Amino acid sequence: MKLDILLGLQWGDEGKGKVVDVLSPHYDVIARFQGGPNAGHTLEFNGIKHVLHIIPSGIFHPGKINIIGNGVVIDPIVFKKEIDSLEQLAIKATENLLISNKVHLILPTHKWIDAMQEEQKGKQKVGSTLKGIGPTYTDKVARIGFRICDIHSADFSERFENICKIHTDLLKKNSYQPQEDIAAVFTEWLNALQTLLRFTLIDSEYELNRYLKEDKKVLAEGAQGTLLDIDFGSYPFVTSSNTVAAGACTGLGVAPNQTGKVIGIVKAYCTRVGNGPFPTELLDETGEQLRKQGHEFGTTTGRPRRCGWLDLVALKYAIMINGVTEIVLTKADVMDNFELIKICTAYQIDERTTHRFPSDINKEIIPVFKEFAGWKQNLSEVNDYEKLPQNFKDYVAFIEEETGVPIRIISTGPDRSETIIRTT
Ligand code: IMP
Repeated sequence: MKLDILLGLQWGDEGKGKVVDVLSPHYDVIARFQGGPNAGHTLEFNGIKHVLHIIPSGIFHPGKINIIGNGVVIDPIVFKKEIDSLEQLAIKATENLLISNKVHLILPTHKWIDAMQEEQKGKQKVGSTLKGIGPTYTDKVARIGFRICDIHSADFSERFENICKIHTDLLKKNSYQPQEDIAAVFTEWLNALQTLLRFTLIDSEYELNRYLKEDKKVLAEGAQGTLLDIDFGSYPFVTSSNTVAAGACTGLGVAPNQTGKVIGIVKAYCTRVGNGPFPTELLDETGEQLRKQGHEFGTTTGRPRRCGWLDLVALKYAIMINGVTEIVLTKADVMDNFELIKICTAYQIDERTTHRFPSDINKEIIPVFKEFAGWKQNLSEVNDYEKLPQNFKDYVAFIEEETGVPIRIISTGPDRSETIIRTT
């Protein structure tokens, strides 16, 4: 069996949580491969909304194995809160959640360094979720990071104190004073660590490869989106991990020749939280309408998301980088009442038309749009693709024709039940 990969093809918030939840019954194992508590995956079923930050979205399906892979970073405090809220729903995560020994830990000081560095960036501020993601991955690459398995090593205390000293020296040098009570936060962190250590820690690369050999179906669940990838995103306004399909290989320890389908999640329009270029952004009434109708407010930070039309230049780039084999289209229902819908098909940069996503996306970009008549019908009331309005089907056909990738699933609302799986 091959590893299927599911990821976002825009700036995150494409609706991955719901799609993983819908697809989970078809898989035995769901594995997260990158990111950390900056992610916020929303799932809705039986009239209740659930938000997950670190735990794979398969946790709501009894009997499924959920794995947090080596590419993920965990803050024990956020993890404990997530476990506590699952326990309130009578979900015993200890039974079906396995965690890689190699996961790097977010320390309280990482969050403070994140906040300090954002302040120092001035105009270049990324708009980070301030969960300590950047500094934790920085320490990983600098080879001073702290993995879960290091807790059991003989020199644990020495290493822990050493990292804390490096961090506090940096904060002091920059005269950064955390708003919180430092000692209290560290005590909370160490207590929360005990919750984390109650879980089964594994060498997930061995287990995942074993599952694939045993013909178990494994789904890798991405976080954030391709345009936030550290290498291919709109640098420097990106996150600090590889959000692309290749990240599933390094973040889980599965070889490229063991990968199968790459399922790309695309929202029918674009959104972005935080700063950075956004060629199709709408700073007008229509943008406001998308935000309101689509409830476009950050799951992790509550910030209003910037909204704009679907961008095919960026989408085709994301499809190429990830080798996407099928698309799941989400939130088209948000535009049910729109008279006119636009899709960006090219960029004009320095008076030249291009279909490429530029390396320096900070340049002035004028999007070229194709217009579509709205379908003016409530999509969530339809559950058969053939019965969907023709204007909507024309819109779907255009995206498929341009990208060369089939749209297999259409999500028409937040609930599990509001999903159309295409058979034609
Ligand atoms: P960080 O990863 O928290 O440092 O944030 C870096 C950038 O990625 C910021 O613009 C964030 O708003 C954005 N970002 C991080 N995680 C997510 C996510 O899950 N969805 C959407 N944007 C995100």
